[in-house]
Amino acid sequence: MVSPIPSGKRTALLVATADVSTNLLNEILEPRGFAPVAVVSTLAELAVRMRVLQPSIVIAPVESAGQGGDFDAITMELRRLPGCVVIGTSRTKDADIVLAAMRAGVLEFLVTPAEPAEVRATIGRVLQLTASPTAQGQVFTVYAAKGGLGTSTIAASLAWELARRNGKQGVALADFTTTGAGMRVMLNLNPLYDLGNIAAQTDRIDLDFVRSVMVTDPEGVAVLAAAEEVDAADSLDINTGGRLFDVLRQEYAYTVVDTDHHFAEPTLAALDAADRIILVTQLDVSALRSTQRTLGVLGRLGYPTDKLIVVANRRSDRDRIAVADAEQVLRRPVTLTLPNDYTSCSDAITTGAFVQRHAPTSSLVSAFSGLADHLTGVGTAAGLVAGARDDRSRLFKLFGLR
Ligand SMILES: Nc1ncnc2c1ncn2[C@@H]1O[C@H](COP(=O)(O)OP(=O)(O)OP(=O)(O)O)[C@@H](O)[C@H]1O
Ligand SMILES: [Mg+2]
Repeated sequence: MVSPIPSGKRTALLVATADVSTNLLNEILEPRGFAPVAVVSTLAELAVRMRVLQPSIVIAPVESAGQGGDFDAITMELRRLPGCVVIGTSRTKDADIVLAAMRAGVLEFLVTPAEPAEVRATIGRVLQLTASPTAQGQVFTVYAAKGGLGTSTIAASLAWELARRNGKQGVALADFTTTGAGMRVMLNLNPLYDLGNIAAQTDRIDLDFVRSVMVTDPEGVAVLAAAEEVDAADSLDINTGGRLFDVLRQEYAYTVVDTDHHFAEPTLAALDAADRIILVTQLDVSALRSTQRTLGVLGRLGYPTDKLIVVANRRSDRDRIAVADAEQVLRRPVTLTLPNDYTSCSDAITTGAFVQRHAPTSSLVSAFSGLADHLTGVGTAAGLVAGARDDRSRLFKLFGLR
C-alpha cells in the first residue's frame, strides 16, 4: 500500500527489490522538498504508480531492461514524464545490462548494495538534472458526480482568482465539457479554434499549436474552448490528453479544467493529469449519494487521498444536511463550502462575465479566493470549514498520535 503523498511536494518512487534503503533515501530527499519515498513491490506496480504520482525520481532494478514486459511500460511512462529521472540498480555492473537500461531511458546507475555516500552522490547528480527543466505548472481539475452542482461556475471563478494573483505567469481554463453552457457562453467568447482541433491533430500537440488554439479572455485567462461538436474531443484519450497537459504545464502556472460528469476518456485524462481534483457536491441527499459513489470510483482509480478535496457548493442556512453529517456520509472532510448566491451566479452567466466582475462584493467571491488560497497553499481563508480539522490531523501525525 502506497501512502498518500502530501500535495506540493516532489515525489520519488522506489521498487522494493532495488535494494536501496528507504530511510537513507528519505534522509537525503525530505530536506530537499520531497514527500516520503513511495515504495512499490513490482515493476508492473511501478508503471501504474508513475502515471498517478508523476514522480521526479524513480529507483528500480534494471536486470530485466530491454527484455520487453513491464520495463517497456516504464519506458512508455518515462516518455510522458520529461522531468523524471530513473536510477537503475543492479547487483553487477554488466555492460549489456547497463546498455539495455540506458536504451530504456535509465540515466543513472547504482551497483547494490551501495555505500550511503555513493547513494548521496547519485541522488545529488539526479537532483541537478531534475532541477534544471522549466518550472512546471499545476493542473486543477473540477469535477462533479452529476450535472448542475456548479462545476463550471467554480472552474471559471477559480481560474479568474488564480489569474488575478499570477497574471504574468498565466492561467489557463480548459473546457473539457460536452454539455452545459460551456465557457464560450459563460464568458461570451468566440474562439476560432477549440479542443476539437487539438483532438483532430493529436500528432501536432506542442507549445506553438496549443498556444494558437487558446483565446485570451479580456480578464487575462487563456481559455481552451470545448469542442463545438459533442463527440469531437472523444479521441483525446489518456495518453494524448496527458501530452496536452504536459504542454499546458510548460506554459501556464495553473491550468483549471472543467469536466463532464461521466468518466469518458477526456474526463479521465483531466483527472489523471490533475495535481488536485476539486470534487464538487451540495448538501442534499441526491448530490451526496452521487458524490459518495464517485469517491469510490476515484479510490479504485488509485488517486492518492490528498489529490482530492471535496467542496460543498450553494451552502445556505436552509440546508437540511449539516457539513458534519456530509463528512460522515462521505467519510472524508468537506474542505470548503461556497455560499448560495443564485442572483450573482446567474446574472454573471447571462452577461457573459466572471462572477467576481459581476458581483465583486458577494460572499461567494471571498469563498472563491479561499479556494485559490487552499490550492496554492496560502494561509487559511473564509469558507474553509474543515481546515482546522485537516491541521489537527496533521498535528496529530506530527506528534505521532495517530
Ligand atoms: N454558489 C452558487 N450559488 C448559487 N447558484 C450557483 C452557485 N454555483 C452555481 N450556481 C448556479 O447553478 C447552476 C449550475 O451551475 P453550473 O453551470 O456552474 O453547474 P455545472 O455543474 O457546470 O452544470 P452542467 O452539468 O450543466 O455543466 C447555474 O445556474 C449557476 O448559476
Ligand atoms: Mg458545466
